Amino acid sequence: MDSDGDGIGDLDGIRQRLDHLVELGVGALWLSPIFASPMADFGYDVADYCAIDPLFGDMAAFDALLTEAHGRGLKLLLDFVPNHSSDQHPWFAESRSSRDNPRRDWYIWHDPAPDGGPPNNWQSNFGGSAWTLDEATGQYYHHAFLAAQPDLNWRNPAVRAAMADTLRFWLDKGVDGFRVDVIWHLIKDAGLRDNPPNPGYAPGQPDIQRYLQLHSADQPEVHEVIAELRGVIEEYDGRLLIGEIYLPLERLMTYYGQDNAGVHLPFNFQLIQAPWHAGGIAALIDEYEAALPPGGWPNWVLSNHDQPRIAARVGEAQARIAAMLLLTLRGTPTLYYGDEIGIADVTILPDQAQDPAAINEPGASFNRDRARSPMQWSPDPGGGFSNGEPWLPLTTDWQTRNVASQADEDASMLALHRALLRLRQAEPTLRSGDYRRVDAGEGLLAYRRGPTIAVVLNLSSEARALTLPTGWQDADILLTASGADLARVPDMLPGDEGLVLRLPEMAA
Ligand code: NOJ
Repeated sequence: MDSDGDGIGDLDGIRQRLDHLVELGVGALWLSPIFASPMADFGYDVADYCAIDPLFGDMAAFDALLTEAHGRGLKLLLDFVPNHSSDQHPWFAESRSSRDNPRRDWYIWHDPAPDGGPPNNWQSNFGGSAWTLDEATGQYYHHAFLAAQPDLNWRNPAVRAAMADTLRFWLDKGVDGFRVDVIWHLIKDAGLRDNPPNPGYAPGQPDIQRYLQLHSADQPEVHEVIAELRGVIEEYDGRLLIGEIYLPLERLMTYYGQDNAGVHLPFNFQLIQAPWHAGGIAALIDEYEAALPPGGWPNWVLSNHDQPRIAARVGEAQARIAAMLLLTLRGTPTLYYGDEIGIADVTILPDQAQDPAAINEPGASFNRDRARSPMQWSPDPGGGFSNGEPWLPLTTDWQTRNVASQADEDASMLALHRALLRLRQAEPTLRSGDYRRVDAGEGLLAYRRGPTIAVVLNLSSEARALTLPTGWQDADILLTASGADLARVPDMLPGDEGLVLRLPEMAA
């Protein structure tokens, strides 16, 4: 929500819309970076970790947001971006100023290869080499993302100490925790060895796919660093550490750590990446549940600001089923703003692209602008988001796809999300009851949560015969995905329909 008419969302705007989050029924709010930044990567290039960028407001606006969020019982999480700073950060300015500057070793510098090229074959996530030559000092610096985002050297204890202090700065203010950007990237191979070629790479794919990221990320020593970050979190009561991690399941699980030394929640992005088929989704939930370490608390993510939205991936009808899945699985769900009204996709013409990844590798890389369009609040001009021109286009159907229009419709996407979250708040079983899968038939995903709740989802658009365990037919229907009023559990589940059931005692 934009409060000052510049077309860009800001802290006062979010504060004005906190009631929406309360009515929706979420417990915590995660903000993508709000820190001082030249915005080469929309704030993921931080120039001062302890200042608010004027685009978003000032520290008074932040304090007001935090106070009002807490006043409404909402927790507030910030986005901590420790892997890299902006090249405009004073630390980097000092580091690049000379080879013997005391901060030289705060970043990752290396001599050119014998041919004068980059020190190794590592690729940037945003295209091209992950190394840029600094002509003045004759060395390359490493950047896993843009050249304007130099990677910090987390092997340097001074970097760790400075970053711990930035966490304490925000924790002292009372923030409830952090989502940590690309946490698995923090430590790179000490010898900077070349990555091996990726046998699956096909021309036309983003450059990052050329090699397997064996030496440039997910190094064993990263866990020592995370233990230190967690140590800072543990200096305070009740704060949360979430790690952004794109890794295969068995690697992901190592980030839980042991004895409070890992992150509380390594983000679980499997639902974003998996094809939308009942059998595959059922299998991945089983595998995830089975792979969790003792005491590891599950979490599920359906969309985020880097990936196509759920409604764009599976269509609006199945996005309702996906919402029912997300909000009835065990653990902590993360809901991406706008998914609660079913925003699907916005068309971004090539010359409108703002995402640096899409600009650098047009065609190869998903244009993240398509998942970042403004929240649609009302049928007013600018979708109620801004009195000015919104920074990205709205969906073509914004005049009906908005919070105000959906708020009064019984069967709207918004009503479904509110009902699911209300149910989740009322039924602890939905949050923490054990998960047991049940085979209900082709195209269906069915499971039991604890002894009392069951969920049956049709992941297809065709009606499917239900073969349910004894007693399930006599269950009370707590919610339907379509909003339809069903008197009893049907023999055939319509396409795109889902049910949340309260099982009678003694149901199998
Ligand atoms: C992951 C963030 O989610 C993404 O938006 C950003 O571009 C990169 N990390 C670099 O910080």
